[in-house]
Amino acid sequence: MRPIESITLIAKNEMMREMLSRIDKVVDSDSSILLIGETGVGKEIIAEYIHRTSPRSQRPFVKIGLSAMPADLLESELFGHEKGAYTSASQEKKGLFEIANTGTIFLDDIDDVPIQIQTKLLRVLESREMMRIGGTKPIPIDVRLITATKVDLKELVNKGIFRADLFYRINVVPVKIPPLRDRRDDIPALVEHFLKTFQPRKKIAVTQDALRAMVHYSWPGNVRELRNVVQRLSLFVDGKVELKDLPAEIQNENPVEFLLKACNKCFIDESMSFEQIVQCLEYNLLKEALKESNGNQTKAARSLGLSLSTFRDKIKKHNLHNQKFKL
Ligand SMILES: Nc1ncnc2c1ncn2[C@@H]1O[C@H](COP(=O)(O)OP(=O)(O)OP(=O)(O)O)[C@@H](O)[C@H]1O
Ligand SMILES: [Mg+2]
Repeated sequence: MRPIESITLIAKNEMMREMLSRIDKVVDSDSSILLIGETGVGKEIIAEYIHRTSPRSQRPFVKIGLSAMPADLLESELFGHEKGAYTSASQEKKGLFEIANTGTIFLDDIDDVPIQIQTKLLRVLESREMMRIGGTKPIPIDVRLITATKVDLKELVNKGIFRADLFYRINVVPVKIPPLRDRRDDIPALVEHFLKTFQPRKKIAVTQDALRAMVHYSWPGNVRELRNVVQRLSLFVDGKVELKDLPAEIQNENPVEFLLKACNKCFIDESMSFEQIVQCLEYNLLKEALKESNGNQTKAARSLGLSLSTFRDKIKKHNLHNQKFKL
């Protein structure tokens, strides 16, 4: 857990810790950082963490979501305009780049930037100066750039929708934030953190069953979805969160569906044979049973309806017998 002023970033998972130590290595430099991850994984909170731990922490932090904004409006938001630059410009206006000067600017959903703005952005980033719309004098700009995307920008570059030169300029340090379903060991700590955030004075416990269901759920909306669920629980539950208090989709995550999701590889990799797919499913089934039983092989074997000796043969075959399993 890393509390920075008012930010608490939960990162118990190994991949998350590695990601943060990667960030820590570059935080003092001015290098541009590209955050890549699905909706709700924590791109914005990580951008804020970068700013707050950087030498620019006392300077402005300015964020803007670039999705679904018309190009004209976006241009004036980013670069400002002079009085009279166009009919409705009755006052001069500072753009966000000017406001962020000496600090950090966070451009969210960078993949949604129209191509003409991409060109302008690139010019500002390369020349380190900008001009307001309708302006004549260049304004020096010193900002640290953090961008975020939910989609693979390289693909957009290949399709010709995203400028390759801008891509290379913002992709100096790419940081992938894994979806919550790939770091389920963060879930208990996140639940606890959000319970404390929303009800600092109320002591709410979570039963094993409820926690297990939350750990197994696939969280398509990632940490944001988890946060909202916990917020609702903290309002309506007194004392103890039980399985029945959870939203239906979390209580009823179908084990077969869960398994199929865990088994992504089988379905993406079309070259796998029937036998390989069966092996992959078997591997995931054994692994889940071990996780579920906190590594207790007798319990895990029973949950799959296998004799202990068959279970042991199988985990040996999949090289799972020496691994540690804890919820
Ligand atoms: N590791 C974490 N620890 C604590 N809180 C977190 C963590 N990750 C995300 N959150 C919280 O979850 C919510 C969603 O995170 P955030 O807004 O940063 O996601 P995002 O990736 O920017 O989403 P989107 O792509 O939809 O904009 C926020 O309230 C954020 O504070
Ligand atoms: Mg965001």
